[in-house]
Amino acid sequence: MTSASGDVIFAITKEHLETGMRGFPVGYCTTSFVEPVKGLFYMGQPVDQLASSTPEEVIYLLYHGQKGTPEQIQRFSKELQKRAKCSPEVIKQIQLLPRKGHPMELFCCALLICGMFEGKNDYREDCLNLIAKIPEIVAAVINYHAGWNSLKPSKPELGYMENFTHMLNVPGGDNEELTKVFKLFNVLHFDHGGGNLSTFVGKAVASGLEDMYGSITAAMCALAGPRHGKANQDCLEFVQGILKEVGENATAEQVEKLLRSRLASNQLIFGFGHAVLRIEDPRAAVLYATADAQFANHPLVKITRLLRQVGPKVLGENPKISNPYPNVDAISGTVLTAAGFPYPDYYTVLFGLSRVVGIAIQIVYERCEAREGKGTPIVRPKYLFKPREDIAK
Ligand code: MLT
Repeated sequence: MTSASGDVIFAITKEHLETGMRGFPVGYCTTSFVEPVKGLFYMGQPVDQLASSTPEEVIYLLYHGQKGTPEQIQRFSKELQKRAKCSPEVIKQIQLLPRKGHPMELFCCALLICGMFEGKNDYREDCLNLIAKIPEIVAAVINYHAGWNSLKPSKPELGYMENFTHMLNVPGGDNEELTKVFKLFNVLHFDHGGGNLSTFVGKAVASGLEDMYGSITAAMCALAGPRHGKANQDCLEFVQGILKEVGENATAEQVEKLLRSRLASNQLIFGFGHAVLRIEDPRAAVLYATADAQFANHPLVKITRLLRQVGPKVLGENPKISNPYPNVDAISGTVLTAAGFPYPDYYTVLFGLSRVVGIAIQIVYERCEAREGKGTPIVRPKYLFKPREDIAK
């Protein structure tokens, strides 16, 4: 690839083919970036430094590209509140979806339904509307899928995630505790650079001029895969499995032995490694600190602490593993469970609730602002022809 000045910024060799376009520069991201040894930054700020900010403050930062003053945040929050309620028809249609599917399947259908009733065919309007409405869409999907009674009327004035917890009928949930953890989870998952699969897919589909709701639906179908967003569900199930085998009072040696025996029998170890990061995921570090501060004696927290201790050592012995450190999924489900949300089937939907924010803002940039407002062209990479008989070679 050659820049306008003729400088080569990335050279593609044959070895790069069929490697998932890992690291290929394809454009600009104006919201966040991920540095292999430094982690995630929103508008240049390390994500761990934003962990105690409210979702509204961080959405403002990503949307406007700079920190808001208290007055600006208040005005922006009011704007979101004004746009937050879905029309009753949207909720009615969500409650007619088959319950049989994975919650991510219902979520994707719900986004298309919302677009049919509320879409304005205007990327900027739809971006703000969707960010505002996503808590109600997700609460409707979860309540309906779980059979937790119908949705409580939305009260956007409570606050972005406060309203989400209020609408969600979590059985026996302590709403204050849940809100604290949902807010943190939300802020940590808003964005992750421009090239993660769901973000890339959302922007690629929007490049064909599909509207915001359809593009975000495609992005969420991408997020649903176990190598991407569903890893948080699979990871909690993995930690639960370890707990069941070794018990909550296990030693580091016992966990290490178990990991080694799982590796020896080719079983997967979840929650370690990352496509870009080469250090412990800073989002994981924030969640480990929360777990230690608030839920130190929870059995799953005890196990994740041991996994954090021995996992990098065991995995690091394999020279093929470039990052043996925990990622955000290693601990997010444990914190959600400890806070009173022990429902791994819904963890990817919670991830989606959050990530929609970054993807929608990035779509607005690519459609309305990039290339002096002309927008980026339709995505169209090239595949080299390879005859079938050459494939085995
Ligand atoms: C993440 O949040 O870690 C991602 O979406 C995965 C990635 O960046 O590829």
